[in-house]
Amino acid sequence: MVCDRISARDLQALLRPGGPWAGVTCLETTDSTNLRAVEMAENGAPHGTVVVADEQTGGRGRLGRRWVSPPGRNIYVSLLLRPEIPNAEAPRLSLVAGIALADATEAAGVPGALKWPNDLYLGGRKAAGILSEMASGSERVRHVVVGVGVNVNLGEEEIPEEIRGKATSLRIRAGRAFSRVALLAGFLDAFAARYREFTAGGFPAVHPGWARRDFLRGRRVRILRPSGDAWGVARGVDEEAALLFQQDGSDAVERVHSGEIADFER
Ligand code: BTN
Repeated sequence: MVCDRISARDLQALLRPGGPWAGVTCLETTDSTNLRAVEMAENGAPHGTVVVADEQTGGRGRLGRRWVSPPGRNIYVSLLLRPEIPNAEAPRLSLVAGIALADATEAAGVPGALKWPNDLYLGGRKAAGILSEMASGSERVRHVVVGVGVNVNLGEEEIPEEIRGKATSLRIRAGRAFSRVALLAGFLDAFAARYREFTAGGFPAVHPGWARRDFLRGRRVRILRPSGDAWGVARGVDEEAALLFQQDGSDAVERVHSGEIADFER
């Protein structure tokens, strides 16, 4: 079983020069890299601060769920960003991170699909998730922490029973182990490029990177959204990063800006 360490030196040596990365903190263990990054943000850490851990004891997922974070197997990373964008644009950064992650796994030989709003799927099972936490000013964003968890070398037997069959890893998908530090560098480089495109041209500039990997398009889904939950068909993601959703029995297509896919037909 591969159980390498991620060091800041190894990571920095692999990163493409000219990226936005201001400093990398690599921890052996922490409760949650998102919590560390939020703390650093509140203490004035700059845009481009990266926090990585080999293990999380309190890894946090969306909707208050836990994120399984055993040592030495996976990537747990949080990016502290201080983008000059209106508050309403900030949630799109999670989708930008998803696109960059798909770029990186594809470059490593494992093409994935993106499930709105921010999961990476391999072979119909979830391999990565993103949890973004934002602090907003009166109109513009103060900071955003984008937390990314990627199951890299996790073995089938290490997946908790309650999510077995629904979760996967790159190793399970590809049948071989990966260097976590190389994959992390690939993700940070890809994120730097996608972030540049996004800040210059908004979500439309990165939209094709999502659209060609859209996991849900044409699929029957059950959505939880502010107006309630419903079954229907996902019709794609638009250039404002909203999910296009056609509820069963309706001709209209709704634009859902925030929500969660509770279920989908395989
Ligand atoms: C999800 O529920 O799909 C989102 C999972 C996000 C997990 C990552 S791991 C790094 C960062 N630190 C955390 O505590 N959560 C995120």
